[in-house]
Amino acid sequence: MIERALGKVFDRVAEAYDAARPHYPDEVYGALSEISGVPLAGATVVDVGAGTGILTRALQARGARVLAVDPGAEMLSFLVSRLSGTAGVAAVIGDGNVLPVADGSADLVTYGQSWHWLDPAVSIAEARRALRPGGAMAACWNLADPRAAEWLADYEARLSAEAPGYWGPAHAQWRVPPIATAFEVVEERWIPWTRRIGIEEFLLDLRSHSYMAALPDDAARELVGRRRAELQAAFPGGILSVPMRVYLVVGR
Ligand SMILES: C[S@@+](CC[C@H](N)C(=O)[O-])C[C@H]1O[C@@H](n2cnc3c(N)ncnc32)[C@H](O)[C@@H]1O
Repeated sequence: MIERALGKVFDRVAEAYDAARPHYPDEVYGALSEISGVPLAGATVVDVGAGTGILTRALQARGARVLAVDPGAEMLSFLVSRLSGTAGVAAVIGDGNVLPVADGSADLVTYGQSWHWLDPAVSIAEARRALRPGGAMAACWNLADPRAAEWLADYEARLSAEAPGYWGPAHAQWRVPPIATAFEVVEERWIPWTRRIGIEEFLLDLRSHSYMAALPDDAARELVGRRRAELQAAFPGGILSVPMRVYLVVGR
């Protein structure tokens, strides 16, 4: 509980996260700019829960100046080590509920699959404080879409049955995090895409989830072994086409 509150649970799986979590498709960045009305080139962005920097680096590559905020020193160390150049990025160990920025200083506040780790009300009040007039907040989650493939539905259902902390589409109560009720939404958009990935990388991605980090080592290893055996039997070529969709919500 304390670890969850401090948001450091990901530090235990930072290497797997960095190696195997998917990037967001290009369309997400076009949609973010189009919906928010904020061009990414030259924008000042506070990327909250930046982790290993998947979103931070993509924003930097599109010309934004990004302040990456995350309580996980290990996660941030991957972010920093993966930068092709440090121009335009600063990384700070910090809490998204208490942003280390001046009032009205950001064009965008972004949450790449991180807002659900924050206090739902305090985080939004902080984002409002940080944004300049006309700025926008944006959150996105890169989600597997088990409705689109039976094998993926079976895979997620087994995870749900075997990992007590599992929280995902196979869970009866699972919904996208309710950020759309927390701020004035400009638009919600679903962006489908397909991830082609080898079985071992897919299993490394599995390892990087917080519900796996919460399992004892032996239990996590055994669970991964069972999934490996099932996937190898179903996909002898070793490559998976995983239906994905990004839930993007932009608000003011
Ligand atoms: C699922 S990762 C997302 C990383 C990255 N944004 C991405 O798109 O892949 C969630 C991140 O939120 C961070 N986090 C948890 N609690 C936080 C808090 N109170 N303030 C800021 N970040 C937090 C975690 O340390 C972790 O790096």
